[in-house]
Amino acid sequence: MGFDFDAPIERRGTWSTRWERYPGDIIPLWVADTDFRAPPAVRAAMRRRVDHGVFGYSVNPAELRDALIERMARLYRWRVEPDWVVFIPGVVPGLHLAARHLVRPDEHILVPTPVYHHLKSAATRAARAHTDVPLVLSSGRWVFDEERLEKSIRPDSRLLELCNPQNPGGTIFTRAELERLAAIALRHDLLVCADEIHAEILLDRDKPHVPIASLAPEVSRRSVTLVSPNKAFGIPGAGCAFAIIEAPGLRRAFSADHHATLHDASVFGYEAALAAWRECDGWLAAQLEYLRANRDLVEREVARLPGLALAHVEATYLAWIDCRALGAKDPQALFLEHGVALSPGAQFGDPRFVRLNFGTQRSRLEQALQRMQTAIRNAVSAS
Ligand SMILES: Cc1ncc(COP(=O)(O)O)c(C=O)c1O
Repeated sequence: MGFDFDAPIERRGTWSTRWERYPGDIIPLWVADTDFRAPPAVRAAMRRRVDHGVFGYSVNPAELRDALIERMARLYRWRVEPDWVVFIPGVVPGLHLAARHLVRPDEHILVPTPVYHHLKSAATRAARAHTDVPLVLSSGRWVFDEERLEKSIRPDSRLLELCNPQNPGGTIFTRAELERLAAIALRHDLLVCADEIHAEILLDRDKPHVPIASLAPEVSRRSVTLVSPNKAFGIPGAGCAFAIIEAPGLRRAFSADHHATLHDASVFGYEAALAAWRECDGWLAAQLEYLRANRDLVEREVARLPGLALAHVEATYLAWIDCRALGAKDPQALFLEHGVALSPGAQFGDPRFVRLNFGTQRSRLEQALQRMQTAIRNAVSAS
């Protein structure tokens, strides 16, 4: 079955975070959601639920937990036991629960940088001490400087955070890299909180995603893995998420005040997630094809623009664009003035970068890249 990712869809007026912020003729390529309709099977499942018409409280669906377990086994040969699965409404609450409930107030967290801002804010909002551990460009990939990471570990360090695949850098960490990170965690008795929400948005075909907890039982026993169909299937406004936690003590602590502070996901989130995981692999493959072509376009165009640089994007639909050579004081503001809203790099840890979301219709992406070219031409001629 063919899927049309080129069809323009009006999102203004739908309470979209991405589209409501900037009125007028601004192309918004910031917040990480896509402009594509969710898969037909997801919409059909939600429609059936609407037609049923009763929206009372719900239990966590056992078949959704089973679908998650089946998926982890099929994609990663990772055997997850049913009681390891904790239902949560989103990955973000999972990051914050881990920092608040698994790290004592006098303990310390290691946070990679640049990184999706909630990894850092999980530490700061929980008032836990933390150290930013810079990722470095090595052979064109954003990876940990493992020596520096190990030097940043303190006697009170308790938690290592990981975003794999990496937002904003686009890295798919290799098994060998993950094994070295896991060895560091074991050596220093650290827990690992792995945000793996982008695990199924793999653009490089030869690079598999490896859940760090799947490496070995001793890694699993110190890990919290956060997963969700939200990103890959385009349902973050309607979906749900899961924490996979083998160690019963960690699981209890993580879930301690769950129902007091967090509401369950909605029945629509459960329906959407179940349909996505059971019925939408063909749609996902088609979407990945589309995103690969968008990624190639962005990489090609950015390479032609003076002052910009971009490491190869292995995964995600996000491009972490280095504007250091541009010399602009505020690169996000420069592009915004020319009609393209990108995420400011400061949000992820480096104001000299911008992040571009290419999960959109190609014609819109082409137009945005054109505008960026004009922005740079104007900036260069003004300097
Ligand atoms: C790495 C990462 N984690 C989590 C989220 C958000 O997760 P959720 O919508 O399930 O809370 C995002 C969204 O951009 C993300 O990029």
